[in-house]
Amino acid sequence: MTLHCTIEGSIAVLTIDRPPVNAIGADLRSALLAATETLGGHPNVHSVVLTTARKLFAAGADVSEFDGPLISPTLPEVIAAIETSPQLWIAAIRGMAFGGGLELSMACRYRIATDNAAFALPEINLGIVPGAGGTQRLPRLVGVDEAVAVAAENRKLDATTALRLGLVDRLVAEPLSEAAIAFAQEALRRPPPSLARDRQAASPGDAFWQAAEQRIARKARGAAAPLAALHAVRVGIERGFEEGLAQERATFIELRQSTEAAAMRRLFFAERANSRLPRFPEPAGPSIDRIGIVGAGLMGCGIAAAMVKGGYPVTLADRDDRGLARAEDALRTIFSGEAKRDDKPQLVDERLAMVRFDIGPDGMQDCELVVEAVFEDLELKQDVFAQLERRCHPGTILATNTSYLDPREIFRPISDRTRTIGLHFFSPAPVMKLLEVIPLPQTSDTTKATAHKLARRLGKTPVVAGICEGFIGNRMLRRYRRAAENLVCRGNPPAAVDAAMRDYGFAMGPFEAQDMAGLDIAHRALEAARAGGQKIPVGPLDLLVAAGRRGQKTGAGWYDYQPGERTPRPSAQADAILAPLMAKRPPLPPEEIARLLVEAMAEEGDAIRRGGVAASAADIDLVQVLGYGFPRHRGGPMFATGRLGPAEARRSNTGDLQ
Ligand code: NAI
Repeated sequence: MTLHCTIEGSIAVLTIDRPPVNAIGADLRSALLAATETLGGHPNVHSVVLTTARKLFAAGADVSEFDGPLISPTLPEVIAAIETSPQLWIAAIRGMAFGGGLELSMACRYRIATDNAAFALPEINLGIVPGAGGTQRLPRLVGVDEAVAVAAENRKLDATTALRLGLVDRLVAEPLSEAAIAFAQEALRRPPPSLARDRQAASPGDAFWQAAEQRIARKARGAAAPLAALHAVRVGIERGFEEGLAQERATFIELRQSTEAAAMRRLFFAERANSRLPRFPEPAGPSIDRIGIVGAGLMGCGIAAAMVKGGYPVTLADRDDRGLARAEDALRTIFSGEAKRDDKPQLVDERLAMVRFDIGPDGMQDCELVVEAVFEDLELKQDVFAQLERRCHPGTILATNTSYLDPREIFRPISDRTRTIGLHFFSPAPVMKLLEVIPLPQTSDTTKATAHKLARRLGKTPVVAGICEGFIGNRMLRRYRRAAENLVCRGNPPAAVDAAMRDYGFAMGPFEAQDMAGLDIAHRALEAARAGGQKIPVGPLDLLVAAGRRGQKTGAGWYDYQPGERTPRPSAQADAILAPLMAKRPPLPPEEIARLLVEAMAEEGDAIRRGGVAASAADIDLVQVLGYGFPRHRGGPMFATGRLGPAEARRSNTGDLQ
């Protein structure tokens, strides 16, 4: 049963119970419509409370339906039935009311909520717009400004904000259904407020719409849905509710069949499959009460901050007091940013108090998991693990954050390798959603399951990668950069290559990004490959690094940088350095540049998949989208170039919200 109905006096309580997230699938819609009709004919029922048996009100539509045709009854039909019902409908909300959940609640005359309620219209993340009046009713309840932020810019509203804005009429305490019945009894004594659809929203001027369009277009980077959501709001405000509703529905139906929506749905299912399904049948090992991190540099501090944010006490070690002082400053800066964002100044001290600073690995004895993030140097890493083995208890999981080195070599000193694993975080570690998980041949299922559980607790999506140089992500990055350098040698200026990739939807082109990360890291890898016998001719990277241009940190790389600035400026010096390598050919059109580079990435992806380094094309795309800024609406290089495996095509069609 997805919907229960009880009647107490003149009040009916409809309770949604569709595990796990009350997704509004066809069965629930049918049940809601039937209940609305049945109750409508009930002369003694004057009010209907719509609430939930679960921790949340409703997470949204059942995304698995989106691959097929529309199924009746649709949500707009259900909503229309509620709005024309003779009874007073009250939505009683706890937890998420997202997408269709929020739309359903806005059909009711009142919304009451517990203080953990949250409201959002996340449809644009699936390449669509709300389909059941979200863009029309919300501005009439909270104002155009806020509604645009929610529908087109991914803003979530917490319970207090929703109350302040008028989306929620009252905050109540649990037990929710009792509070709702009391509210209904009281509400029945007052004249009912008008429906959201009948309310007026003040129309902002042209300047508002223009500014919103520019802002949203900039963030969307070519994705269609955010601007379409804005447009639907605008039509409803300027031409009235009915026209707005029709515009929204037509856009929803059109976008639902678009390549963009298919790309984003596939990533949605891949993300869910990686984080939720029991990929590792073994139970996780003993609970983790403290995590150790050795190496308190950029990554060590970032990982420490991510762990603390996930609720883990941390022991952070570096070589000396100077290293620790630097680390404390770095953590204070990260925590201050988080405190400011969450508007909770006390967070800085609370989070710092969860970190114990230590010199060397001695303090790691009471950690159940230790992540190594020292310099990218094999002998150093081996030495760190040899010391850790002597100090930690025998069950401690040992993880390396290496970018390119072979974990089998790194863990050679460890006698029991069942407890070793690669955990490759991305910078900035507290923010980036991706975690590459690299098991060794000996890694036990328990260790894998623990890593998986950790990733979930940190809110990250784990993607399992096999062992090769650079695993999935950095191996593809190397190929991408090499292909971009080839384009430069073929006569395309770096700025033209960067602009083409920005037009494609990346936040940054490959050269701007490399200036930020530093050219020396890639150059060192190039030199190592040469030392290993590979014949790699002198290229742009060699010349730039030889001229001391190592990126933003030296004020010069592919571009020039003013002191204290991060804006790339064209560089006459870099042009002069690169000129001898560049063929005198007309530059390629931007679309061709993007096509060639995405193709190069996808070819490497194919090799990665064939070699068993990634389990599927979708995993490769996830790595690119979550870790390397590949535009989500393009679906990743494998999707964009049509490289889908048959197994994956089946999986993306069968996913549902179970
Ligand atoms: P970093 O140079 O910022 O930090 C390394 C830290 O390790 C320094 O604070 C250093 O003092 C410390 N250290 C060195 N030897 C030590 C020892 N014996 N005991 C304790 N601490 C020691 O380097 P970064 O960028 O944080 O990289 C660390 C590791 O993470 C490398 O393996 C790197 O390849 C990997 N990585 C780096 C990413 C990045 O974006 N920078 C991304 C993902 C992985």
